[in-house]
Amino acid sequence: MAFIQKHQYSLRNHNTFGIDVRAEQFISYDTVEELVSILQELRAQGKRILQIGGGSNLLFTKDFPGVILHSNIQFLEYVSRGSTEILVRVGSGVVWDDFCAEMARKNYYGSENLSYIPGEVGASAVQNIGAYGVEVGSIIKEVETVEIATGTPRVFQASECEYGYRDSIFKNRLRGQYIVTAVVYRLSTIPQVHLEYGQLKDLRAKEETPTAQTIRDAVIAIRRTKLPEPCELGSAGSFFKNPVVPLEKYRQLCAEYKDVPHYVVSEDSIKIPAAWLIEQCGWKGKTHGGAAVYEKQPLILVNQHHATPQDIVELASLIQQSVQDKFQIQILPEVNYI
Ligand code: EPU
Repeated sequence: MAFIQKHQYSLRNHNTFGIDVRAEQFISYDTVEELVSILQELRAQGKRILQIGGGSNLLFTKDFPGVILHSNIQFLEYVSRGSTEILVRVGSGVVWDDFCAEMARKNYYGSENLSYIPGEVGASAVQNIGAYGVEVGSIIKEVETVEIATGTPRVFQASECEYGYRDSIFKNRLRGQYIVTAVVYRLSTIPQVHLEYGQLKDLRAKEETPTAQTIRDAVIAIRRTKLPEPCELGSAGSFFKNPVVPLEKYRQLCAEYKDVPHYVVSEDSIKIPAAWLIEQCGWKGKTHGGAAVYEKQPLILVNQHHATPQDIVELASLIQQSVQDKFQIQILPEVNYI
């Protein structure tokens, strides 16, 4: 077998916060067959199991008393090429942005707005990653998994994945029960662009028909100005989800504040950027121990200087409390605490 197995292993390079906790055991596998046999062995030992991707949405709060599994299933194959769309099947261990780069290079539309998001293909389908008006659930056809309890493969159609804002069946109802091994994406071979979001509107004005590649380039440029590079400053991207409030609550805010930023979700619900709420509470650039609120985007908490998990957990809960006190709005972490 080709899998890698380590004991008392530091997870520092497996979480983008750069938190230095240890896992009792860490196993990286290359194929579905390897995964199935590893699961069989671990079941017999009764070990606690956690599958991770690039660790870009995790906050390890302490050493992990069990086995961390990591997919190194690496392939990208074209399942079909029609006149207007292609189906591409991708291994869960492929770096998400490598996939986006390949699609943009071929000028296939669908993943370009999601360029440069850290993480891997498997996690994209669990987290329903989203950016600039697109969520990955909208380009997923099916998700190939293995059930942890039995080692049985199961394919979920996108319609079964219960995709919502940063949410899926794998994060929710079936949390911890299935491991994603591959994802089949559906992309368009003809331009299908989403340029409604903020700074991407400028691109629409500038270019008549931007290609997948030019949109990708623009998205990367925007992300570079707003989001810290994980290799330079540890973070997990947005720490909180943007809260959705009733229309009435939004109206109350407008009576008190000028130009409240918002996105209309439905007739009677409005999404308010948590970044704005946090900034209004005066948190931008503030520190707590080694953790800090990123000065360019206060939705992001960063590991500024050897932050402990407790620094980050405490800072997050102080922020939640002050948003609650000032606005009576609850903001919830997007990041998974382990
Ligand atoms: N804002 C402020 N102050 C700031 C920054 C932003 O008030 O310092 C307000 C502005 O009104 C701005 C609004 O917040 O218009 C939205 O900011 P931004 O465009 O940066 O997006 P976001 O809502 O904060 C979400 C996603 C990001 C994604 C961007 C772009 C969530 C939790 N986050 O952030 O996703 O990249 O939109 O689509 O939905 C991630 O999930 O890790 C992530 C980075």
